[in-house]
Amino acid sequence: MKPILVANWKMQLSQAESVERLTALRLGVKDFGYAVHMVVCPSFTALERAKETLITSKIQLGAQDMFWAEQGAFTGEVSPTQLRELGVTHVILGHSERREFLGETDKMVAQKVESAMAHGLTPIVCVGETAHQRNDNQQESVIVQELERALQCTPPPSENQMLYVAYEPMWAIGTGEPASPAQAELMRQVIVRTLQEKFGAELAAHRCGVLYGGSVDAENISHYVRPDSYQGALVGGAGLKPETFLALLTSIKQQFS
Ligand code: PGA
Repeated sequence: MKPILVANWKMQLSQAESVERLTALRLGVKDFGYAVHMVVCPSFTALERAKETLITSKIQLGAQDMFWAEQGAFTGEVSPTQLRELGVTHVILGHSERREFLGETDKMVAQKVESAMAHGLTPIVCVGETAHQRNDNQQESVIVQELERALQCTPPPSENQMLYVAYEPMWAIGTGEPASPAQAELMRQVIVRTLQEKFGAELAAHRCGVLYGGSVDAENISHYVRPDSYQGALVGGAGLKPETFLALLTSIKQQFS
C-alpha cells in the first residue's frame, strides 16, 4: 500500500503564508514521483487559494475538521459538500485538540466519519490516550473504545475508498517527546486488530491505513513509517516548513523503495 504523509497546519499560518509555503512545496515535490501520497491541511480560510496554488500538483488538499450535515442552520460550521467544492480530498477528524478544547465527543466524531465517507472524503480519524491514561496502563482499552465509537456508524469502505486512523498519543503532540517505536508499534497492532474485527481482515489490510502522529520529525520518522509498521505520519510542527516536509517525504520514500 502506498505510504502517506499528512501535514496538519493547525491555526498557524495566514492565507498569504499558506500560499507561499504551498508554492515552495509544489516546486519541491515536482520531481518526487508518485511513491508517497502527500496531503496538506491548511486552515479553512486558506483552502480556496490553496486549491488554486495546487492545481496540477501531486499534493492533495485536506481539511482539519468538518461538520456532518450537508447544509442547514449550523452557525460557524463547514459541510462536506463545501469542502468538496474547494477541492478537498482528505479530512482530519477527532483531533485531540478539538476533543480537548472544543468538547468534541466520540458521538460527534462518529457522525463526522460516517458523513465524510458518504461524501467521498477520505477521513483521517485521530485517537490517542492522555499521559494520565498511559500512566494507568489504560492506553489499549482507551484506543479500542475511541476507535470503536468513532467507527460505530461507518459502513465498510468501498472499493476505491480509504480510511485512515492516526494514533496520536496526547502527551506526544507538540512536546518533542514522541512515543517510543516499541510503544507506537504495539498501539498500531491494537488498532489493526480493532479494524479487522470491524471490517474483516481483507478490508482492514487494503482499505484502511494507520498513521503515527506526535512529535514526528525528519530524524525519527523512519522509526514509525516503514513497510512493516505504520503506513504514514500525521505531522504538526515538522510539516509547517517546506524543507522539513520534504525531508520527511524523502525518508518515507527511502523506507518504501
Ligand atoms: P506535532 O503535532 O507533530 O507538532 O506533535 C501532531 C498533530 O497534532 O497532529
